[in-house]
Order: sequence, then structure tokens, then C-alpha cells
Amino acid sequence: MSDNTDILVHTEAGVTTLTINRVDKKNSFTAVMYGAMADALAAAEQDPAVRVLIIQGHEAIFSAGNDIGDFLNSPPAGQDAPVFRFLRGIASFPKPLIAAVCGPAVGVGTTLLFHCDLVYAGDNAAFSMPFVNLGLCPEAASSLLVPQMMGYHRAAEALLLGEPFMAEAALEVGLVNRVVAPAEATTLALATARKLAAKPLSSLVETKRLMKKGSAQQVERQMMEEAESFGRMLREPAAKEAFGAFMERRKPDFSKI
Ligand code: COA
Repeated sequence: MSDNTDILVHTEAGVTTLTINRVDKKNSFTAVMYGAMADALAAAEQDPAVRVLIIQGHEAIFSAGNDIGDFLNSPPAGQDAPVFRFLRGIASFPKPLIAAVCGPAVGVGTTLLFHCDLVYAGDNAAFSMPFVNLGLCPEAASSLLVPQMMGYHRAAEALLLGEPFMAEAALEVGLVNRVVAPAEATTLALATARKLAAKPLSSLVETKRLMKKGSAQQVERQMMEEAESFGRMLREPAAKEAFGAFMERRKPDFSKI
């Protein structure tokens, strides 16, 4: 187990499970949590005893995305900021990566899924990428991967309008592998992880590398460009208005921006 109780890390029988465990704040991510996840990914990558990694939240909430207060108070400074370390870590993680997603998955809660190999969703899962509504732009190479997976027009609904979509729609576009009752999502993820852990790790790693090889560099480049824009936009008036409105529980007013 890690000593950060907001991110629980547990390894057993070749499977490392990262549990997002900040339910009172809807599992929103602080810089400390991103750092803990980046470290756990790096450790799992290095440890030959780890064959598969699972990311999961709670039965009622996967993640509300970035902690808005934390982002306002200490916006990520440069490519080495914990959030970008985490995103690079998940995008380049060489071993199988499984997500179990129930309840809302907002912002990075959805975009991280595009880097997972298998995604199991509870039927209460609600995915959204409301970056525009927050005066921001996509991250985690989602401006590349969302149109690739969903097709341009559906991507425009998700990324320009920031409209949420439910588990069945995510299944239809191929973002999730199966939709199950919320109580079953983590069980299914673990059962699948155990199946994968019984297979030869070298074959899993090589197969994943070959499947991702064609897009790996493009993903990295897109992610760096997004990170630069995202970091700049966080400090601009639209994001300040959106985040201020969230803290004050009012609707943002972009009419003068
Ligand atoms: N950052 C910081 N705090 C957050 C948060 C976030 N992204 N999302 C939720 N919280 C906090 C709320 O401020 C509230 O804290 P409080 O109890 O101290 O007042 C607590 O979590 C519960 O949130 P609430 O909005 O009341 O829960 P809900 O069940 O009604 O709605 C969500 C859940 C996820 C739909 C909603 O919280 C939400 O939309 N959050 C913002 C998502 C977002 O815009 N993320 C940024 C993406 S870049």
C-alpha cells in the first residue's frame, strides 16, 4: 500500500491496483495524487513481478477530473508537473492496463481511458470532457484520440459542446469493452487482470508495443502541444471565470471574454 490515502496502491499475484480514494471530493485529482499515480506507474513498469495494472474508482464515482481549487492555486508549471508526468506515464505504460469505471468520469477521468487497453464500465458510468466549458482545451492526447476512436462529429459533440455520454454510448463507440452492474465492474477487471497475468509477460508487452507503435510518437507530440496550450489557458480569463464560477456555485459568464 502507498502512504497516500487518496491513491491506494495494492499489488497481489502480479496485479497492481490503483484505487482513486478521495470520494468526499468526488475523486478529483490534486497534484499530489497525480504524483502518486505517476510514481506507482513507474514502479509497476520496473517491477518484473507486476504484469497488469488496474485503475479504479468507487462504485458511485470514478473521478470528477482535476481538483479545481488545486489547479487554481498551483497550476501545473511545465512539462514536469505531476499531471503531465502521470499522463506521459499512462500513455507509455508497456504492460496491460485495465480500467473499471462507475459513475461520473469527468475530464481526465475520461481522457485517461483512451490509454487503457481494456475498459469495463458500470451502467451508471457518465463520461464527459468539458474542457471548453472550463475555458481550457483537451489534454492526454484526447484531441487526437477522441476523433480517431469516435469519429469527428461525435468527437465534436464530446469536445466542443462538452456533452456527457453514458456507458451504452461509450460501448457503441468502442471506448468501453463491456457494461455491467456497478458492483461487478471491479470484479470483472480483476478477473480479466488475473487471466492476463497468467500469460507470458514478454508476449503481452511486445503485442501492446506493436499495436501502439504506429501512433506512439504522434500521441507524445500531441500531448506536449496540448500541455503547452492547457498550461497557458489555465491562466487566462476564460478559465479564471469558469473556475471562479464553480467555486461560487454559479453559471460562468463568458459574454465579455
Ligand atoms: N474539484 C474540486 N472539488 C470538487 C470537484 C473538482 N473537480 N468536483 C467535485 N468537487 C467537490 C465539490 O466542491 C463538493 O465539495 P464540498 O462537499 O466541500 O462542497 C464535493 O466534491 C461534492 O461535489 P458535488 O458537485 O456536490 O457532487 P455531485 O454528486 O452533485 O456532482 C460531479 C458530481 C462530478 C458531477 C460534479 O461534482 C462536477 O461536475 N464536478 C466538477 C467536474 C469538473 O468540471 N472537473 C474539471 C475537469 S478539468
